[in-house]
Amino acid sequence: MSDPAKAVLAKAVPATARALTQEMRSDGVLVVTLDVPGEKVNTIGRPVMEELDALITDLDARPDVKGVVLRSGKADNFIAGADIKEFTAIRSALEGETLSRSAQGVLGRLEAARVPVVAAIHGSCLGGGLETVLCCRYRIASDDPKTVLGVPEVNLGIIPGIGGTQRLPRLVGLAAGLDLILTGRSVKATRALKSGLVDEVVPPAALLTAARRAVLDLADGTRRLERPGISLGERLIRPVIFSKARSSVLAKTHGHYPAPLAAIDAVQRGTATSLAEGLKIEARHFGELSVSDVSRNLVSVFFATQDIKKDAGYPEGTRAREVHKLAVLGAGLMGSGIATVSVEAGVDVRLKDASFEALGRGLRHAREVFEERRRRGSLKPREVDRRMQRLSPTVDYSGFRRADLVIEAVFEDLDLKRRVLAETEAVIADDCVFASNTSSLPIGDIARDARHPNRVLGMHFFSPVEKMPLLEVVVTQETDAWATATAAVFGRRIGKHVIVVRDGAGFYTSRALGPYMNEAARLVEEGAAIEAVDQAMVAFGFPVGPLALMDEVGIDVGAKVAKILMHAFGERMAPPVAMAAVVEDGRLGRKNKRGFYVYDGKKRPDETIYALLPSGTPRRTFDARDMQDRLVFAFLNEAARCLEEGILRSPRDGDVGAIFGLGFPAFRGGPFRYLDKLGARFAVEVLERLAAHHGERFRPAAILVDHARSGAPFHDQRARTAP
Ligand code: NAI
Repeated sequence: MSDPAKAVLAKAVPATARALTQEMRSDGVLVVTLDVPGEKVNTIGRPVMEELDALITDLDARPDVKGVVLRSGKADNFIAGADIKEFTAIRSALEGETLSRSAQGVLGRLEAARVPVVAAIHGSCLGGGLETVLCCRYRIASDDPKTVLGVPEVNLGIIPGIGGTQRLPRLVGLAAGLDLILTGRSVKATRALKSGLVDEVVPPAALLTAARRAVLDLADGTRRLERPGISLGERLIRPVIFSKARSSVLAKTHGHYPAPLAAIDAVQRGTATSLAEGLKIEARHFGELSVSDVSRNLVSVFFATQDIKKDAGYPEGTRAREVHKLAVLGAGLMGSGIATVSVEAGVDVRLKDASFEALGRGLRHAREVFEERRRRGSLKPREVDRRMQRLSPTVDYSGFRRADLVIEAVFEDLDLKRRVLAETEAVIADDCVFASNTSSLPIGDIARDARHPNRVLGMHFFSPVEKMPLLEVVVTQETDAWATATAAVFGRRIGKHVIVVRDGAGFYTSRALGPYMNEAARLVEEGAAIEAVDQAMVAFGFPVGPLALMDEVGIDVGAKVAKILMHAFGERMAPPVAMAAVVEDGRLGRKNKRGFYVYDGKKRPDETIYALLPSGTPRRTFDARDMQDRLVFAFLNEAARCLEEGILRSPRDGDVGAIFGLGFPAFRGGPFRYLDKLGARFAVEVLERLAAHHGERFRPAAILVDHARSGAPFHDQRARTAP
């Protein structure tokens, strides 16, 4: 364990404080409560493992104990997982393997305990937590919505390393086990019961009694256990199951994420042999993955998302206004999405549009989202209705006076946005925050004639709002800290990662994306095939290629943003000439089924677009690496400029924003981690080479040149306190 990790543990757990406490009940049941001192949630690291080991040894010498109930002392958390800090301190694959083997040893002893151990699970039971309860003889979960079970390790670039890859499939079957391990998703108690992951589900208040009953029944042999396990049918089609799992992982990850493939290997080879041998295979994979670049990057992204909650872009202690009532202007694609996620979070929403027809579309969108969730079993019919009741439509400003926050999502038109701001200011309360969801207009321009510019800011959501996890809060010099805090706290409440950035055309995300998108279009103009450009970027790690993305966003929308960026930054951001012809041709993208692709049934590149380009440009093959360099370095250079100009408060925010807002490959850690990996000197060399070949737009940002000179990585920089 590294010194900093030791220091953290030493601070959190004084030598005398214990995580496990015992209480002997008169019926012979020992109730063991896990409550890691000084922490909000339970995690299991070495100290907890040592205590658990001592407890099991102790049991052998206590004939009075008929069985054990293992429960949590935290309010709504059972065990959140293994201690990530401990895992980041691993320095070699062998050290990782040894750590895994030693934890496997303790849990193996738990599994073989002299008396039955019953897990009474309330709250999240994830990763190492689930692996622990898999070694208990019986599992009871509370039916509380906070009780969720899963193994999210793949999200950190590793696999479950304390027996999860071996015991899960042996308990619930190959398909169900692989599904949990490969997706990292968690399931609620009722679903866990169906799959056999838990044996019983009871209300939280009945948990302890049910667990004690189970201990006694198991101890005297009156409770029979029936577990699905790996069925005969699954045994017969093993090769099919694993080859399907492999191809679906490869289709999704393009080979960039080694952990799911390692997990498949561990399950496949492990379930073909004994548990003991399987555990060795698992530990070996765990060790190798734990020190991989991908895992290091994914862990850094995880820490960044935790860190932005604490260092959030406004002074600590700033009082945010609590949002009970939200008003949304515009019931289009974005407005209806914002309204949907807000009612989901329990907020009353007043939704205004110019016509009842538009409002009808917005309400329909919300209902469809909730109905879909009902179909999947995560909402009851009355919960759908309750959500819809929180959403009230209007064509005028009635009800706005009581709003705590207004978010406008009307058309991307500066005059219109100014007008709705003026109209809104005339009706809202003095301490109501006004946010614009503009994707590129400077907030300062929108607020130019505002009566209260101190409470105007940007809340830039991403489409589809229900799925995209980023919110970019944009603040001007005049925005008050309480207004910033109100927007950021609200964003976190509706489940978004929030970065706070300084105002400017395109802020951070749209601005960094601008040159990248332009470069993609320019490649097509120069003769590259549409699918070749997109495939090159998917191969780099983006979830979709830039031209497919342009179709999704809307070519018209993209063109508007491009114009605003060019107006603000000049030639560097100029879209290629041919784009004008594409827009003029009436191609809007997916929404009118005509863009870079056609959408008649199967999506395929629309080669008729080539006829719109300057005549005489022959189609030719471009090297994928060259295309990636042009697009990626255009992106990195602009992201660096945003940091240089203080649009971004930190490289951390730049990484979080690009990954969660724009799909920058998470396994690369974000643009600034990627720059650190490449080295600024290398980045400057590539940019200079690109500038020599393709033009001044590639001239490296001054901050990159500085870092190249000093050799300092970006991630040494601390976040500035105010944007
Ligand atoms: P949209 O065209 O789907 O919706 C705009 C809605 O505003 C329409 O329903 C329209 O009837 C309504 N509207 C127009 N004037 C109004 C007024 N005076 N009062 C009330 N409602 C009015 O557009 P979309 O895509 O939802 O975009 C809205 C805003 O969100 C734009 O500023 C856009 O730049 C921004 N944005 C869009 C993203 C996207 O992916 N489409 C992503 C992020 C931001």
